[in-house]
Amino acid sequence: MSPVTLETDRFVHGAWGEAAHDLEWHPGRPLNIGWHCSDRLCRLGLGEKPALLWEDHQGNARRYTFDDLRVLTNTMAEYLRHAAGLHPGERICLFLDRVPELYFGFLAILKMGGIAQPLFSAFGDDSLWTRLDNAGTAAVVTQRKHLGKVRRARERLPELRAVIVVDAGDLALAPGELALDLERLPRVERFAGHATEAEAPSVLHYTSGTTGQPKGAQHVHLSVLGQYLTARRVLDLRPDDVYWCNADPGWVTGTSYGIIGPWANGITQAVLDAGFQSDRWYAFLEKYRVTVWYSAPTAIRLLMRDGSELARRYDLSALRHLASVGEPLNPEAVVWSRETFGRPFHDTYWQTETGSIVVANLPGMEVKPGSMGKPFPGVTATVVDPQSGEPVGQPGRAGLLALRPDFPSIIRSYWRNPEAFAAKFRNGWYLTGDRASIDGDGYFWFVGRDDDVINTGGHLVGPFEIESAMLEHPAVAESAAVAKPDPVNMEVVKAFVVLKPGREVDDELELEIMNTLRKRLSPLAMPQEIAFVPSLPKTRSGKIMRRVLRAQEWGEPVGDLSTMMED
Ligand code: PRX
Repeated sequence: MSPVTLETDRFVHGAWGEAAHDLEWHPGRPLNIGWHCSDRLCRLGLGEKPALLWEDHQGNARRYTFDDLRVLTNTMAEYLRHAAGLHPGERICLFLDRVPELYFGFLAILKMGGIAQPLFSAFGDDSLWTRLDNAGTAAVVTQRKHLGKVRRARERLPELRAVIVVDAGDLALAPGELALDLERLPRVERFAGHATEAEAPSVLHYTSGTTGQPKGAQHVHLSVLGQYLTARRVLDLRPDDVYWCNADPGWVTGTSYGIIGPWANGITQAVLDAGFQSDRWYAFLEKYRVTVWYSAPTAIRLLMRDGSELARRYDLSALRHLASVGEPLNPEAVVWSRETFGRPFHDTYWQTETGSIVVANLPGMEVKPGSMGKPFPGVTATVVDPQSGEPVGQPGRAGLLALRPDFPSIIRSYWRNPEAFAAKFRNGWYLTGDRASIDGDGYFWFVGRDDDVINTGGHLVGPFEIESAMLEHPAVAESAAVAKPDPVNMEVVKAFVVLKPGREVDDELELEIMNTLRKRLSPLAMPQEIAFVPSLPKTRSGKIMRRVLRAQEWGEPVGDLSTMMED
């Protein structure tokens, strides 16, 4: 039996009833995110309203209305289904920068009943291959600049039938590679859509775990209820807003709140396909008169580093609401944003697995700087004792942050990994893997992660993947990757390496190991430091005790060492 307990009654009369009502959905009826984010809005008369204001790092700009969004996603859905021969339920990966085709492709895959698998385009060979292999991906939609990585991965992926290139031009393509020129295809006004069930799989997002390969978090179309309502209530989206979510859709924030939530609400989104640069970002906010901005602590810390003075050179008077996710939002960042933008960043907490915001500082609520806020109405959250698994029931006492798995957007499974999924539940609670406390006023305070996963700039990086990549260097016998404190990214990766007998440490070797990693991982997962050590702390059963290495980095007590193996 699934540990996720959904009582459809709650979606009619309960806290989520408002979303079901607004989206005109009733239990038992089909539901499709792609349709809801485009066709439905045109029916409501929003066809001429801008849906996407897009700009890249060179200043190229494009503008699409909801009607464009409807037709282009229909056209692409038709192409995927019929020209590329893909079927409902198949995994279709989006391996693209933040180009318009990424946004159209996402909705198009959902429209034709496929499972959208967005992956961060900066992933190296191993990171890409692992996730395509695990998902048994049938097709990858990509662009010329990433085609080399996809081609290399495909050599070892028998299930991958099609590679679709959105900017192929006159490039010579190999068998199984298709050129997709969306603007040139006949426009499809009506796509004979696939009537997806509300519980049909929609998005497969990979998230890093402590052990084993990254896990595919499987979402369903019903999640739109959660994304719709939280985008409206927490991000405070209103009809005339211009909204910017600066997250890449390779991560869940970039899909739940960079595509689904805002568009299900019929909101105009601005998208910048460029990396971080303070002045560039301020110019973007100014140019598009962004009113609501969803960002992350790392970005805010970088803006702080460049000072308020820079911000004052731009007209940011349109900004009305600011929110943040991904890591603890430092109290100083809240204070700084009040001074600089005249309003605080509102912290929100959630995860890939929850699919939508679960704890938040709602607009109008008193912000206690440093607190994540309170559970979103409709979400039951608590802090449980690690031993008993029961709520700690005492203000200020830290424990494991747990949620009742009964809200629409919670994942339904980890792809092909029922054991890892089952391990997330205890006594009817979903365990987030984070530690937190609740104060007397019901505000939640983040304490830290309960596992070895590293949170670098709001991105989770699993030690296992880094350690596996490290072992591919012939001189490495063993390794461990842990989080090390960092002023900007909160945490960065530090690697500990035990060399094979007879191998000596020198600069060249370190460089070689780094090069091995660079080809395989994403820039985010790259260690900032490598320490060569004679041995690693281990349990008597031989498991590497990363928490011991981590505690040393943070200057914290190492805790219980009774299971540690003596050298
Ligand atoms: O550890 C928590 C941290 O990010 C984790 C979820 O990461 P991911 O699945 O990649 O999703 C990120 C964006 C939704 C959490 O388990 N985290 C997220 N938000 C906060 C946070 N830590 C502290 N405060 C937050 N507001």
